[in-house]
Amino acid sequence: MKSISTGILYFLALGVSGYAAFVYGFLPLGSSVAPEMQKSFLAHPYGIYIHAFASIVALAIGPFQFSTRLRENRPGLHRWLGRGYLAIGVVVGGLAGLYMSQYASGGTVARLGFAVLAVLWIYTGLRAYLAIRRGSVKEHQKWMIRNYSLTFAAVTLRLYLPISMVGGIDFAIAYPIIAWLCWVPNLIFAEWRCTLANRHMSHFSVNRH
Ligand code: HEM
Repeated sequence: MKSISTGILYFLALGVSGYAAFVYGFLPLGSSVAPEMQKSFLAHPYGIYIHAFASIVALAIGPFQFSTRLRENRPGLHRWLGRGYLAIGVVVGGLAGLYMSQYASGGTVARLGFAVLAVLWIYTGLRAYLAIRRGSVKEHQKWMIRNYSLTFAAVTLRLYLPISMVGGIDFAIAYPIIAWLCWVPNLIFAEWRCTLANRHMSHFSVNRH
């Protein structure tokens, strides 16, 4: 069961990363999005290119960082990938995402959804970094679970959008909802995983004493 969900995680994260890298690397800017969005991208090409390429780094690196095997066998690689994930993906991608949020389609509700997501993305990344600098591995893991659940908004957004289109929901109605729906449930799921990890840890320490 665990290997199936891990496989799905890699598939979705690398699939969306590859798709975005192809579309933004090889196709004219905005050719894959709604005309309203394309207009805003063409008006802020640096913002969207920096956001897309930096954030891809986080989405693509993330799943490997959760691999216990990689962390135990190649701790140096885990550290370097982690630095790239945080510095390029979360900080650069998040700041550019925050910048682009003011021009997002879907009006104030959507803009606020993306802006809060960007701030929380950077905040959870910073907490994860500070935790590991203090040597607190468990805290680092929990903040990273929260942080990657937010990175994963890039995947869930691209699942909900086509679903809303198939469901015949108008883009103007669907997009502001999806700007929140793409990350709030992810974060709730991450909190639940952190609680489970906590219980497991206390159970473990009870059994050890
Ligand atoms: C987690 C924090 C993130 C925030 C706050 C954020 C924010 C945004 C915003 C505001 C836009 C413009 C949308 C519009 O104009 O309507 C956008 C577009 C985009 N973002 Fe993000 N984003 C995040 C994560 C990611 C990640 C991890 C990726 C990695 C693939 C990504 C890739 C893209 C791409 C490729 C676009 C262009 C639209 C498209 O082709 O679908 N974003 N993002």
